[in-house]
Amino acid sequence: ELVPVILSGGTGSRLWPLSRELYPKQLLPLVGELTMLQDTVLRIGDLSGVCSPIVVCNEEHRFMVAEQLRAIGISSDAIMLEPCGRNTAPAVAVAAFEAVSNETDPLLLVLPADHAMRDVTAFQKAVSVGIPLALSGKLVTFGIVPTSPDTGYGYINAGESLDPVSGACRVARFVEKPSREIAEQYVASGEYFWNSGMFLFSAQRYLRELQEFAPEMLDACRSAFMSARREQDFIRLDKSAFASSPANSIDYAVMEKTADAVVIPLDAGWSDVGAWSALWEIGAKDVNGNVVRGDVLSHATRDCYIYAESRLVSTVGVEQLVVIETADAVLVADKSSVQDVKAVVAALNTAR
Ligand code: GDD
Ligand code: MG
Repeated sequence: ELVPVILSGGTGSRLWPLSRELYPKQLLPLVGELTMLQDTVLRIGDLSGVCSPIVVCNEEHRFMVAEQLRAIGISSDAIMLEPCGRNTAPAVAVAAFEAVSNETDPLLLVLPADHAMRDVTAFQKAVSVGIPLALSGKLVTFGIVPTSPDTGYGYINAGESLDPVSGACRVARFVEKPSREIAEQYVASGEYFWNSGMFLFSAQRYLRELQEFAPEMLDACRSAFMSARREQDFIRLDKSAFASSPANSIDYAVMEKTADAVVIPLDAGWSDVGAWSALWEIGAKDVNGNVVRGDVLSHATRDCYIYAESRLVSTVGVEQLVVIETADAVLVADKSSVQDVKAVVAALNTAR
Protein backbone atom coordinates (compact mmCIF):
# COMPACT_ATOMS: atom_id res chain seq x y z
CA GLU A 1 0.00 0.00 0.00
CA LEU A 2 0.98 3.60 -0.63
CA VAL A 3 0.18 6.10 2.11
CA PRO A 4 0.42 9.78 1.21
CA VAL A 5 1.88 11.82 4.07
CA ILE A 6 1.02 15.46 3.64
CA LEU A 7 3.24 17.92 5.50
CA SER A 8 1.19 20.97 6.29
CA GLY A 9 3.00 22.53 9.21
CA GLY A 10 4.84 25.51 7.75
CA THR A 11 3.83 29.13 8.20
CA GLY A 12 5.00 30.57 4.86
CA SER A 13 6.25 33.85 6.29
CA ARG A 14 7.61 35.08 2.95
CA LEU A 15 4.06 35.24 1.63
CA TRP A 16 2.96 37.80 4.21
CA PRO A 17 0.55 39.63 4.39
CA LEU A 18 -1.66 36.92 2.92
CA SER A 19 0.01 34.03 4.66
CA ARG A 20 -0.41 34.34 8.44
CA GLU A 21 0.15 32.06 11.37
CA LEU A 22 -3.56 31.31 11.49
CA TYR A 23 -3.87 31.15 7.69
CA PRO A 24 -0.62 29.71 6.36
CA LYS A 25 -0.08 29.65 2.61
CA GLN A 26 -0.92 25.98 2.09
CA LEU A 27 -4.44 26.68 3.36
CA LEU A 28 -5.01 29.57 0.94
CA PRO A 29 -6.18 29.54 -2.70
CA LEU A 30 -3.03 31.32 -3.87
CA VAL A 31 -2.38 29.50 -7.12
CA GLY A 32 -5.84 28.60 -8.37
CA GLU A 33 -9.37 28.03 -7.15
CA LEU A 34 -8.37 25.45 -4.59
CA THR A 35 -5.90 25.74 -1.76
CA MET A 36 -2.44 24.25 -2.15
CA LEU A 37 -3.34 21.58 0.42
CA GLN A 38 -6.34 20.57 -1.68
CA ASP A 39 -4.30 20.60 -4.89
CA THR A 40 -1.68 18.42 -3.23
CA VAL A 41 -4.19 15.80 -2.14
CA LEU A 42 -5.95 15.76 -5.51
CA ARG A 43 -2.64 15.47 -7.38
CA ILE A 44 -2.13 12.00 -5.95
CA GLY A 45 -5.21 10.89 -7.90
CA ASP A 46 -5.61 7.18 -8.34
CA LEU A 47 -2.00 6.03 -8.16
CA SER A 48 -1.98 2.27 -7.76
CA GLY A 49 -2.47 1.01 -4.21
CA VAL A 50 -2.96 4.49 -2.82
CA CYS A 51 -4.96 4.81 0.39
CA SER A 52 -6.32 7.80 2.26
CA PRO A 53 -3.73 10.38 3.28
CA ILE A 54 -2.20 11.11 6.64
CA VAL A 55 -2.01 14.87 7.13
CA VAL A 56 0.41 16.24 9.71
CA CYS A 57 -0.30 19.81 10.79
CA ASN A 58 -0.29 22.19 13.70
CA GLU A 59 -3.23 21.62 16.06
CA GLU A 60 -4.41 25.21 15.53
CA HIS A 61 -5.17 24.39 11.90
CA ARG A 62 -7.15 21.23 12.52
CA PHE A 63 -10.60 22.50 11.60
CA MET A 64 -9.44 24.27 8.46
CA VAL A 65 -7.55 21.19 7.33
CA ALA A 66 -10.46 18.85 8.02
CA GLU A 67 -12.90 21.18 6.28
CA GLN A 68 -10.70 21.61 3.21
CA LEU A 69 -10.36 17.85 2.82
CA ARG A 70 -14.07 17.34 3.28
CA ALA A 71 -14.80 20.01 0.66
CA ILE A 72 -12.99 17.97 -2.01
CA GLY A 73 -14.54 14.70 -0.91
CA ILE A 74 -11.41 13.23 0.66
CA SER A 75 -11.73 11.28 3.85
CA SER A 76 -8.69 11.19 6.06
CA ASP A 77 -9.14 9.40 9.34
CA ALA A 78 -5.66 10.47 10.33
CA ILE A 79 -5.06 14.17 10.79
CA MET A 80 -2.10 14.21 13.11
CA LEU A 81 -1.86 17.29 15.30
CA GLU A 82 1.43 18.70 16.45
CA PRO A 83 1.32 20.73 19.68
CA CYS A 84 4.40 22.59 18.40
CA GLY A 85 6.51 22.53 15.26
CA ARG A 86 9.54 20.24 15.35
CA ASN A 87 10.29 20.48 11.63
CA THR A 88 9.79 17.74 9.07
CA ALA A 89 11.76 14.73 10.33
CA PRO A 90 9.56 14.25 13.45
CA ALA A 91 6.41 14.95 11.40
CA VAL A 92 7.29 12.10 9.05
CA ALA A 93 8.25 9.90 12.01
CA VAL A 94 4.84 10.14 13.69
CA ALA A 95 3.16 9.52 10.32
CA ALA A 96 5.34 6.41 9.89
CA PHE A 97 4.21 5.12 13.31
CA GLU A 98 0.59 5.67 12.39
CA ALA A 99 1.04 3.95 9.02
CA VAL A 100 2.73 0.87 10.50
CA SER A 101 -0.01 0.56 13.10
CA ASN A 102 -2.38 -0.28 10.21
CA GLU A 103 -0.10 -2.36 8.03
CA THR A 104 3.30 -3.94 8.58
CA ASP A 105 5.36 -1.91 6.15
CA PRO A 106 3.50 0.42 3.80
CA LEU A 107 5.23 2.84 1.49
CA LEU A 108 5.06 6.50 2.47
CA LEU A 109 4.78 9.19 -0.19
CA VAL A 110 5.82 12.36 1.62
CA LEU A 111 4.42 15.50 0.02
CA PRO A 112 4.80 19.10 1.17
CA ALA A 113 1.40 20.83 1.05
CA ASP A 114 2.74 24.02 -0.48
CA HIS A 115 4.02 23.14 -3.92
CA ALA A 116 2.50 23.85 -7.31
CA MET A 117 2.80 21.53 -10.30
CA ARG A 118 1.68 21.96 -13.87
CA ASP A 119 1.94 18.39 -15.14
CA VAL A 120 0.16 15.95 -12.86
CA THR A 121 0.71 13.03 -15.23
CA ALA A 122 4.49 13.50 -15.16
CA PHE A 123 4.38 13.63 -11.36
CA GLN A 124 2.36 10.41 -11.11
CA LYS A 125 4.66 8.69 -13.58
CA ALA A 126 7.72 9.61 -11.54
CA VAL A 127 6.05 8.22 -8.41
CA SER A 128 5.23 4.97 -10.24
CA VAL A 129 8.88 4.64 -11.26
CA GLY A 130 9.84 5.09 -7.61
CA ILE A 131 7.53 2.43 -6.17
CA PRO A 132 9.64 -0.66 -7.00
CA LEU A 133 12.77 1.15 -5.81
CA ALA A 134 11.10 2.06 -2.51
CA LEU A 135 9.86 -1.54 -2.16
CA SER A 136 13.47 -2.69 -2.48
CA GLY A 137 14.41 -0.46 0.47
CA LYS A 138 15.62 2.67 -1.28
CA LEU A 139 14.82 6.20 -0.13
CA VAL A 140 13.51 7.83 -3.26
CA THR A 141 13.89 11.55 -3.99
CA PHE A 142 12.57 13.48 -6.97
CA GLY A 143 15.07 15.77 -8.67
CA ILE A 144 14.35 19.02 -10.47
CA VAL A 145 16.78 20.43 -13.05
CA PRO A 146 17.99 23.65 -11.38
CA THR A 147 17.52 27.00 -13.07
CA SER A 148 19.44 29.16 -10.59
CA PRO A 149 21.87 28.74 -7.67
CA ASP A 150 19.05 29.09 -5.14
CA THR A 151 20.27 28.45 -1.60
CA GLY A 152 16.82 27.55 -0.31
CA TYR A 153 16.96 24.08 -1.82
CA GLY A 154 18.69 20.80 -1.21
CA TYR A 155 21.07 19.70 -3.97
CA ILE A 156 21.35 16.14 -5.19
CA ASN A 157 24.39 14.80 -7.01
CA ALA A 158 23.29 11.94 -9.25
CA GLY A 159 25.60 8.91 -9.19
CA GLU A 160 25.42 5.51 -10.86
CA SER A 161 22.51 5.07 -13.24
CA LEU A 162 19.92 2.49 -12.19
CA ASP A 163 17.62 2.78 -15.17
CA PRO A 164 18.41 4.67 -18.37
CA VAL A 165 14.73 4.87 -19.35
CA SER A 166 13.41 6.68 -16.29
CA GLY A 167 16.76 8.31 -15.52
CA ALA A 168 16.73 6.94 -11.96
CA CYS A 169 20.19 7.12 -10.36
CA ARG A 170 21.79 6.47 -7.04
CA VAL A 171 22.33 9.61 -4.99
CA ALA A 172 26.07 10.19 -4.75
CA ARG A 173 25.63 13.19 -2.48
CA PHE A 174 22.80 15.13 -0.91
CA VAL A 175 23.60 18.65 0.33
CA GLU A 176 20.86 20.60 2.07
CA LYS A 177 20.83 24.39 1.52
CA PRO A 178 24.47 24.95 0.53
CA SER A 179 26.15 28.36 0.51
CA ARG A 180 25.74 30.57 -2.53
CA GLU A 181 29.27 29.79 -3.74
CA ILE A 182 28.75 26.05 -3.54
CA ALA A 183 25.31 26.26 -5.13
CA GLU A 184 26.84 28.15 -8.07
CA GLN A 185 29.43 25.41 -8.55
CA TYR A 186 26.75 22.73 -8.40
CA VAL A 187 24.55 24.40 -10.98
CA ALA A 188 27.50 25.11 -13.29
CA SER A 189 28.63 21.46 -13.10
CA GLY A 190 25.32 20.25 -14.56
CA GLU A 191 25.57 17.23 -12.26
CA TYR A 192 23.13 18.29 -9.59
CA PHE A 193 19.38 18.34 -9.18
CA TRP A 194 17.36 20.41 -6.78
CA ASN A 195 15.64 18.27 -4.19
CA SER A 196 11.90 18.69 -4.72
CA GLY A 197 11.17 17.94 -1.06
CA MET A 198 8.95 14.96 -1.91
CA PHE A 199 10.07 11.50 -0.80
CA LEU A 200 9.02 7.89 -1.20
CA PHE A 201 10.21 5.09 1.08
CA SER A 202 9.00 2.26 3.24
CA ALA A 203 7.82 3.34 6.67
CA GLN A 204 10.02 0.81 8.45
CA ARG A 205 13.03 1.83 6.44
CA TYR A 206 12.56 5.45 7.48
CA LEU A 207 12.20 4.48 11.13
CA ARG A 208 15.40 2.41 10.87
CA GLU A 209 17.25 5.40 9.43
CA LEU A 210 16.08 7.51 12.36
CA GLN A 211 17.17 4.78 14.76
CA GLU A 212 20.64 5.10 13.29
CA PHE A 213 20.93 8.86 12.75
CA ALA A 214 18.52 10.43 15.24
CA PRO A 215 17.66 7.92 17.98
CA GLU A 216 16.49 10.59 20.46
CA MET A 217 14.06 11.94 17.90
CA LEU A 218 12.78 8.45 17.22
CA ASP A 219 12.19 7.77 20.93
CA ALA A 220 10.43 11.09 21.48
CA CYS A 221 8.20 10.60 18.42
CA ARG A 222 7.38 7.03 19.40
CA SER A 223 6.19 8.08 22.83
CA ALA A 224 4.33 11.10 21.42
CA PHE A 225 2.52 8.66 19.15
CA MET A 226 1.95 5.95 21.78
CA SER A 227 0.43 8.48 24.20
CA ALA A 228 -1.56 10.30 21.52
CA ARG A 229 -5.26 10.94 22.05
CA ARG A 230 -7.71 10.12 19.30
CA GLU A 231 -10.72 12.37 18.82
CA GLN A 232 -12.78 11.63 15.74
CA ASP A 233 -10.35 11.96 12.83
CA PHE A 234 -7.76 13.80 14.86
CA ILE A 235 -4.72 12.24 16.43
CA ARG A 236 -3.39 14.58 19.10
CA LEU A 237 0.27 13.85 19.73
CA ASP A 238 1.36 13.90 23.33
CA LYS A 239 2.57 17.39 24.06
CA SER A 240 5.49 16.89 26.39
CA ALA A 241 6.86 13.90 24.48
CA PHE A 242 6.64 15.63 21.13
CA ALA A 243 8.11 18.85 22.48
CA SER A 244 11.06 16.86 23.81
CA SER A 245 12.01 15.75 20.30
CA PRO A 246 14.98 17.50 18.73
CA ALA A 247 13.81 19.74 15.86
CA ASN A 248 15.31 18.91 12.49
CA SER A 249 14.33 18.53 8.88
CA ILE A 250 14.23 15.20 7.10
CA ASP A 251 16.86 16.59 4.74
CA TYR A 252 19.49 17.20 7.42
CA ALA A 253 18.49 14.36 9.72
CA VAL A 254 18.20 11.57 7.15
CA MET A 255 18.73 12.44 3.50
CA GLU A 256 22.21 13.93 3.88
CA LYS A 257 23.31 10.88 5.85
CA THR A 258 21.66 7.84 4.32
CA ALA A 259 23.64 5.53 2.06
CA ASP A 260 20.62 4.30 0.15
CA ALA A 261 18.99 7.25 -1.58
CA VAL A 262 18.03 7.32 -5.24
CA VAL A 263 16.87 10.21 -7.39
CA ILE A 264 14.23 10.17 -10.10
CA PRO A 265 14.25 13.19 -12.43
CA LEU A 266 10.98 15.10 -12.35
CA ASP A 267 9.97 17.50 -15.11
CA ALA A 268 6.45 18.49 -14.11
CA GLY A 269 6.51 22.28 -13.97
CA TRP A 270 7.22 21.99 -10.26
CA SER A 271 7.41 25.10 -8.12
CA ASP A 272 8.02 25.57 -4.43
CA VAL A 273 5.72 28.50 -3.87
CA GLY A 274 8.13 30.03 -1.42
CA ALA A 275 7.89 33.76 -2.16
CA TRP A 276 5.78 36.19 -4.15
CA SER A 277 8.14 36.03 -7.13
CA ALA A 278 7.22 32.35 -7.54
CA LEU A 279 3.55 33.26 -7.85
CA TRP A 280 4.47 35.76 -10.57
CA GLU A 281 6.55 33.11 -12.34
CA ILE A 282 3.82 30.47 -12.41
CA GLY A 283 0.90 32.88 -12.88
CA ALA A 284 -0.91 33.74 -16.12
CA LYS A 285 0.54 37.00 -17.41
CA ASP A 286 -1.21 39.76 -19.33
CA VAL A 287 0.43 41.40 -22.39
CA ASN A 288 2.59 43.55 -20.12
CA GLY A 289 3.82 40.61 -18.12
CA ASN A 290 1.69 41.39 -15.09
CA VAL A 291 -0.03 38.79 -12.96
CA VAL A 292 -3.06 40.34 -11.27
CA ARG A 293 -5.69 38.98 -8.89
CA GLY A 294 -8.71 40.88 -7.69
CA ASP A 295 -9.76 44.42 -8.48
CA VAL A 296 -6.66 45.89 -10.17
CA LEU A 297 -6.33 48.78 -12.59
CA SER A 298 -2.86 49.40 -13.91
CA HIS A 299 -1.34 51.66 -16.52
CA ALA A 300 2.21 51.60 -17.90
CA THR A 301 2.97 48.75 -15.51
CA ARG A 302 5.25 45.86 -16.37
CA ASP A 303 6.21 42.50 -14.89
CA CYS A 304 4.42 43.08 -11.61
CA TYR A 305 2.47 40.78 -9.29
CA ILE A 306 -0.55 42.65 -7.95
CA TYR A 307 -3.06 41.20 -5.52
CA ALA A 308 -6.09 43.18 -4.37
CA GLU A 309 -8.13 41.56 -1.63
CA SER A 310 -10.48 44.24 -0.35
CA ARG A 311 -9.96 47.43 -2.36
CA LEU A 312 -9.19 48.63 -5.85
CA VAL A 313 -5.43 48.70 -6.39
CA SER A 314 -4.02 50.89 -9.11
CA THR A 315 -0.43 51.21 -10.34
CA VAL A 316 1.08 53.66 -12.82
CA GLY A 317 4.56 53.67 -14.32
CA VAL A 318 6.11 50.93 -12.25
CA GLU A 319 7.80 47.65 -13.03
CA GLN A 320 9.12 44.55 -11.26
CA LEU A 321 7.02 45.21 -8.16
CA VAL A 322 4.98 43.01 -5.89
CA VAL A 323 1.92 44.78 -4.46
CA ILE A 324 -0.25 42.86 -2.02
CA GLU A 325 -3.28 44.55 -0.54
CA THR A 326 -5.27 43.04 2.32
CA ALA A 327 -7.77 44.61 4.71
CA ASP A 328 -5.21 45.26 7.42
CA ALA A 329 -1.82 45.30 5.72
CA VAL A 330 -0.26 46.29 2.39
CA LEU A 331 3.04 45.07 1.03
CA VAL A 332 4.98 46.85 -1.70
CA ALA A 333 8.26 45.16 -2.57
CA ASP A 334 10.78 44.98 -5.35
CA LYS A 335 10.35 41.60 -7.00
CA SER A 336 14.02 40.80 -6.49
CA SER A 337 13.81 41.39 -2.72
CA VAL A 338 10.79 39.30 -1.84
CA GLN A 339 12.87 36.70 0.03
CA ASP A 340 13.36 39.38 2.68
CA VAL A 341 9.65 39.72 3.45
CA LYS A 342 10.26 37.29 6.29
CA ALA A 343 12.33 40.05 7.95
CA VAL A 344 9.17 42.17 8.18
CA VAL A 345 7.30 39.28 9.75
CA ALA A 346 10.09 38.70 12.24
CA ALA A 347 10.03 42.39 13.16
CA LEU A 348 6.24 42.29 13.58
CA ASN A 349 6.50 39.24 15.81
CA THR A 350 9.00 40.86 18.13
CA ALA A 351 7.18 44.21 18.17
CA ARG A 352 3.81 42.76 19.15
N1 GDD B 1 3.76 18.99 9.89
C1 GDD B 1 4.78 19.80 9.74
N2 GDD B 1 5.49 20.16 10.86
N3 GDD B 1 5.09 20.24 8.53
C2 GDD B 1 6.14 21.07 8.41
C3 GDD B 1 6.92 21.49 9.52
C4 GDD B 1 6.56 21.00 10.82
O1 GDD B 1 7.17 21.32 11.85
N4 GDD B 1 7.87 22.33 9.06
C5 GDD B 1 7.70 22.43 7.73
N5 GDD B 1 6.63 21.68 7.34
C6 GDD B 1 6.10 21.50 5.99
C7 GDD B 1 5.98 22.80 5.23
O2 GDD B 1 4.66 23.29 5.34
C8 GDD B 1 6.28 22.36 3.83
O3 GDD B 1 5.11 21.87 3.21
C9 GDD B 1 7.23 21.18 4.00
O4 GDD B 1 7.03 20.70 5.30
C10 GDD B 1 8.71 21.51 3.76
O5 GDD B 1 9.12 22.45 4.71
P1 GDD B 1 9.82 23.81 4.28
O6 GDD B 1 10.13 24.57 5.53
O7 GDD B 1 9.03 24.48 3.22
O8 GDD B 1 11.19 23.27 3.68
P2 GDD B 1 12.12 24.02 2.65
O9 GDD B 1 11.33 24.52 1.50
O10 GDD B 1 12.94 25.01 3.41
O11 GDD B 1 13.10 22.86 2.15
C11 GDD B 1 12.61 21.60 1.72
O12 GDD B 1 11.95 21.72 0.46
C12 GDD B 1 12.81 22.14 -0.65
C13 GDD B 1 11.98 22.16 -1.91
O13 GDD B 1 10.89 22.98 -1.77
C14 GDD B 1 13.81 20.66 1.62
O14 GDD B 1 13.33 19.35 1.38
C15 GDD B 1 14.76 21.07 0.49
O15 GDD B 1 15.79 20.09 0.34
C16 GDD B 1 13.98 21.17 -0.81
O16 GDD B 1 14.85 21.61 -1.87
MG1 MG C 1 9.32 24.92 1.18
